[in-house]
Amino acid sequence: MTETLTSTKLVTGLEGVVAAETRLSSVDGQAGELIIAGFPVEELAGQATFEETVYLLWHDRLPDAQELISFRAALAARRDLPPATLDLLRTAAAQRVAAIDALRMAAGTLSLQGADDPEQQALTLLASFPTIIAAYGRLLQGEEPLAPRPELGHAANYLFMLFGRTPSPEHVRGLETYLNTVVDHGMNASTFTARVIISTQSDLISAVVGALGALKGPLHGGAPGPALDMVFEIGDAANAERYLRRKLEQGERLMGFGHRIYKVRDPRAEVLSAAAARMFQGNGHQALYQLSRQVEQTAVALLAEYKPGRNLQTNVEFYTALLLHGLDLTTDLFTPTFAIGRVAGWIAHCFEQQQLNRIIRPQSVYVGPKDRSWTPLRAR
Ligand code: ACO
Repeated sequence: MTETLTSTKLVTGLEGVVAAETRLSSVDGQAGELIIAGFPVEELAGQATFEETVYLLWHDRLPDAQELISFRAALAARRDLPPATLDLLRTAAAQRVAAIDALRMAAGTLSLQGADDPEQQALTLLASFPTIIAAYGRLLQGEEPLAPRPELGHAANYLFMLFGRTPSPEHVRGLETYLNTVVDHGMNASTFTARVIISTQSDLISAVVGALGALKGPLHGGAPGPALDMVFEIGDAANAERYLRRKLEQGERLMGFGHRIYKVRDPRAEVLSAAAARMFQGNGHQALYQLSRQVEQTAVALLAEYKPGRNLQTNVEFYTALLLHGLDLTTDLFTPTFAIGRVAGWIAHCFEQQQLNRIIRPQSVYVGPKDRSWTPLRAR
């Protein structure tokens, strides 16, 4: 059967191609603006609890007090992991599997919870991510996982399960600001992956597992660890220019800079930089914050010199690294922690895709030969 080609125009990386209408978020790269379900990110991120933001995305409005209590309770009731999930995490930790891969494998085991209903799957996925990541983080350190505490909110409970102490309000606020900031971001690679999978009438767990695979790569969610490593390697502002110049001379990319859409400063970097500054006030990370600002300024100036006209600016990953480090997270937990926020966006996109579903099925242009003749194996 021959395909009907409606367009032969090849758009590498699907750049500029519109693949869906959405009410979830709007990314304006020229204005440096991010709107999440009607709220500018600067308005929402620092004020909402994470549960309020998720409710907003899933219901297109903020919850009232009673709805918020019920939503928090529904999540808290689903935090425990199936025994098989914990067994898998123990095996993965023994082999020192990367935390993002452990999360992907563990997310797949949530099918063992037996719920086919999309709403139940959505709640289970959202509620389980912090438990999986905290359990795995502890297993990697040779410590036993901790049971969740139902009276704590989503962000506070994650920090509790990681460190075994009730987190300070400043740390909880810092983490909630981060999770709200990264909860959704237009048609990014992992969100598109989730929408492609759900468009085949597959299930939410499959869509989320696929999205995790897309998020893992350093060109998407895998950059904050390397961005922080870079700041540590620089160590002192006086070394920044020499270090960064060398990288650029060698044709390397500076992690935490550049974005497909933002050609002015990523507004999420702005929000997270301010949140990190607030969180670090008066604690031992202040010097690191100052160093990061100096590295940022030098990097942006050098990128303009080496890549003129490209408008390479600081992206979300740069300050993500700093903020999460300030919360005492190790770098291998950065990308999984990004997923704690973004899973809510993936699920919201899946719900949206299901409402007006049409299978996502683009085309390719064949550039290979068409006239080969078969050579039997013995003659090759
Ligand atoms: N450092 C050095 N050069 C860069 C950087 C960078 N961080 N980013 C882009 N460039 C250069 C490229 O080498 C290219 O130069 P050339 O035309 O001379 O070959 C030019 O700028 C354009 O780059 P593209 O790859 O075409 O830009 P694209 O829009 O495809 O890439 C991306 C965006 C992948 C984010 C890129 O900027 C990058 O690799 N950044 C570093 C990794 C990073 O920070 N990733 C996190 C992104 S944020 C997120 O997904 C949550």
